Amino acid sequence: MFISILLCHSLAAFASTQVHATPEQWTALGRDLGGRLHTALPLSSPCFATVNGVDVGRNETECAAIRQGYTSPSFRSPLFSPRMFPQWETCQRTSQKCLLDSNQPNNSAAWEGMDCEQGSVSPRYVRLNNATDVQIAFRFAQETGVMLSIKASGHDYKGRSGAPGSLGLWIRILISSNSCQMTYSPDFVPEGGNISYPVITAGAGVPFQDLYKFADVNNVTIVGGYHQTIAASGGWVMGGGHSILSPVFGLGVDRVLQFRIVTPDGQIRVVNEFQNPDLFWALRGGGAGTFGLVLESTMLVEPRMKLQVASIHFNQTRQNAGPFLEILVEQALKWSQEGWGGHMSPSGLINVNPLLTLAQAKRSMRPAVDFALSQNGTVVIEELPSWQAFFSKYVLAAESAIGAPTIQGTRLIPAQNFASDDGKASLVKIFTTMFNEFNISMNTVVGTPFLFNSTKGATSVTPAWRKSIWHLAFHGAWTYNATVEDIRNQYELVSNINQMLRDITPGSGAYFNEGDVHEPDHEQSFWGDNYPALLEIKRKYDPYGLLDCWQCVGWKGPEDERYACYL
Ligand SMILES: Cc1cc2nc3c(=O)[nH]c(=O)nc-3n(C[C@H](O)[C@H](O)[C@H](O)COP(=O)(O)OP(=O)(O)OC[C@H]3O[C@@H](n4cnc5c(N)ncnc54)[C@H](O)[C@@H]3O)c2cc1C
Ligand SMILES: *[C@@H]1O[C@H](CO)[C@@H](O)[C@H](O)[C@H]1NC(C)=O
Ligand SMILES: *[C@@H]1O[C@H](CO)[C@@H](O)[C@H](O)[C@H]1NC(C)=O
Ligand SMILES: *[C@@H]1O[C@H](CO)[C@@H](O)[C@H](O)[C@H]1NC(C)=O
Ligand SMILES: *[C@@H]1O[C@H](CO)[C@@H](O)[C@H](O)[C@H]1NC(C)=O
Ligand SMILES: *[C@@H]1O[C@H](CO)[C@@H](O)[C@H](O)[C@H]1NC(C)=O
Ligand SMILES: *[C@@H]1O[C@H](CO)[C@@H](O)[C@H](O)[C@H]1NC(C)=O
Ligand SMILES: *[C@@H]1O[C@H](CO)[C@@H](O)[C@H](O)[C@H]1NC(C)=O
Ligand SMILES: *[C@@H]1O[C@H](CO)[C@@H](O)[C@H](O)[C@H]1NC(C)=O
Ligand SMILES: *[C@@H]1O[C@H](CO)[C@@H](O)[C@H](O)[C@H]1NC(C)=O
Ligand SMILES: *[C@@H]1O[C@H](CO)[C@@H](O)[C@H](O)[C@H]1NC(C)=O
Repeated sequence: MFISILLCHSLAAFASTQVHATPEQWTALGRDLGGRLHTALPLSSPCFATVNGVDVGRNETECAAIRQGYTSPSFRSPLFSPRMFPQWETCQRTSQKCLLDSNQPNNSAAWEGMDCEQGSVSPRYVRLNNATDVQIAFRFAQETGVMLSIKASGHDYKGRSGAPGSLGLWIRILISSNSCQMTYSPDFVPEGGNISYPVITAGAGVPFQDLYKFADVNNVTIVGGYHQTIAASGGWVMGGGHSILSPVFGLGVDRVLQFRIVTPDGQIRVVNEFQNPDLFWALRGGGAGTFGLVLESTMLVEPRMKLQVASIHFNQTRQNAGPFLEILVEQALKWSQEGWGGHMSPSGLINVNPLLTLAQAKRSMRPAVDFALSQNGTVVIEELPSWQAFFSKYVLAAESAIGAPTIQGTRLIPAQNFASDDGKASLVKIFTTMFNEFNISMNTVVGTPFLFNSTKGATSVTPAWRKSIWHLAFHGAWTYNATVEDIRNQYELVSNINQMLRDITPGSGAYFNEGDVHEPDHEQSFWGDNYPALLEIKRKYDPYGLLDCWQCVGWKGPEDERYACYL
């Protein structure tokens, strides 16, 4: 319902940007797509009296609904225009934007006397129905030179789910081959293979919250990300896909058994170990938005399992952050060897463990528990019957707010760094510098496949994932009305802090999906020695370069018009 509201609003203000198709070509495309070609304005346009320079008048009813949902992922994710991080809806280089104040969405200073500008929001998009629509779009792009972008949930941290002036291919939820969004099969055989596996197949666009529920109803566990609206078969799985169950059960790329994809040459392909094995390898870590548009993926599942859960929090102060970080660093290797995964910060942690008993879990977490209690914090160590029980209690219940301009820096921290006193001390030193000098908290994901027995050479993610125990992250942020200079400073700060982490982890890498927008030597960081082979596969399946994204395999580089809004 909300979507049609946005479409009805002020079509007069529709921005015609520098796309190269003629009006006749657009009309023909609309006809071929059976009415699924739409125009788009930025999310908050109803709040503004002027949109793309045209006086249209505000719509307070619609604006009130947008203000209310502004920082909610569940509100943003089912719409085409918004992203989780709204700077990617804007043109950062020119400050063209249409944003509300995410700290205070009712703040009328955001819209009074301001023009709502199209920014990086695609002026036209296709609401994809099936593979035929994708084939039509690829052919159109090849014939006209119109840039394409692909968007599923809009979670991307690096602006890769859109591009100014592009034709957006929007995956709400694609129905998979057997006309269901999700199917469970206890004995799936990859096409061309002869061994069967218990799996769930998910159409592109299906969010993890639906998959977790579906898996639970079928008494199985699917390994996935720590957020309800990430699209399981999109950016998550193709870029790596970490879970707090990954230490024991592997990354998304370790567990996927088959994809269906439309490659830019228009072919619908089944991709697995037996058919198109080169592309299968590339899709297992080479990144999304690069090799084609994935229609569905099939992932291995585990039986329903009990989990030990540790939820430990206290109020962070300047005095207690350092000592707690020391505990985290001191215990890191032992905890990883015991099978813990989770998220840890200077004010606490939420960890899960599928291997230990409750008594063992309590003993293992003792140092963190004692510290938190000394700070009058809260501690829960409990056994829950399933992943779904954990996810509803600890993730859904604490829906993380989005909608504020945010960037990340990350680094994969090898186990080796935790094996010596010097190594541990240098980590703690960086964390306390970040904290004391820049007021930036580290936040570590314990979600690397540390104990998982992977098959050598089966995936194309950087091998650094398998030697690391932490995927360490931190954030830069700014306000809706920050100047270009303020924003530049945040990018620089994140890059500089990230460099301190690179310096103590030579030869390691970073997660393609999450990290420094300006990652230096990104081919090496994200893929290591796998890059040359990935590039060859990119050229084979996308010979005309219809797909491209920031620091993706075969990236055309920052000078390309697609990146005109990046800083
Ligand atoms: C709040 C939050 C929590 C997160 N938690 C985790 C986590 O626990 N684990 C983890 O590994 N990552 C996590 N991420 C990062 C996440 O994996 C990436 O942002 C990922 O790219 C999201 O994929 P998407 O398809 O949902 O998003 P989108 O932004 O829609 O797309 C991301 C990229 O994939 C492309 N794409 C999407 N669908 C397809 C498709 N079907 N075919 C081809 N290309 C496609 C897009 O073009 C774009 O380049 C998190 C991100 C956020 C914002
Ligand atoms: C504002 O939007 C609502 C909901 O779409 C619509 O019913 C109403 O007519 C609009 N009002 C104006 C003044 O356009
Ligand atoms: C924002 O405005 C709406 C009315 O438009 C009101 O219901 C809500 O309480 C306001 N929120 C805040 C935080 O002021
Ligand atoms: C896609 O849907 C259209 C009708 O909406 C149909 O004509 C076409 O055959 C479908 N394509 C596939 C690959 O299922
Ligand atoms: C299964 O396939 C493998 C090759 O992938 C082959 O070596 C083996 O003989 C096949 N087994 C059966 C029972 O067909
Ligand atoms: C799941 O397990 C429960 C309890 O063992 C059982 O009653 C139910 O039938 C199972 N459901 C499926 C789909 O197998
Ligand atoms: C914890 O609470 C006790 C009792 O209220 C108080 O005396 C103590 O100072 C508190 N400790 C901290 C670190 O806040
Ligand atoms: C932090 O402090 C506030 C107010 O003093 C208190 O309500 C809250 O429970 C504390 N949080 C934790 C995790 O201890
Ligand atoms: C530090 O950052 C937090 C938000 O992360 C903010 O609330 C706080 O005011 C900042 N403190 C200082 C001293 O800047
Ligand atoms: C990895 O393989 C070893 C040896 O077979 C086994 O003991 C161990 O349990 C396996 N690890 C996981 C996480 O499955
Ligand atoms: C941004 O907006 C806030 C709140 O409306 C205001 O206090 C601040 O001065 C503005 N900053 C800039 C750079 O315009």
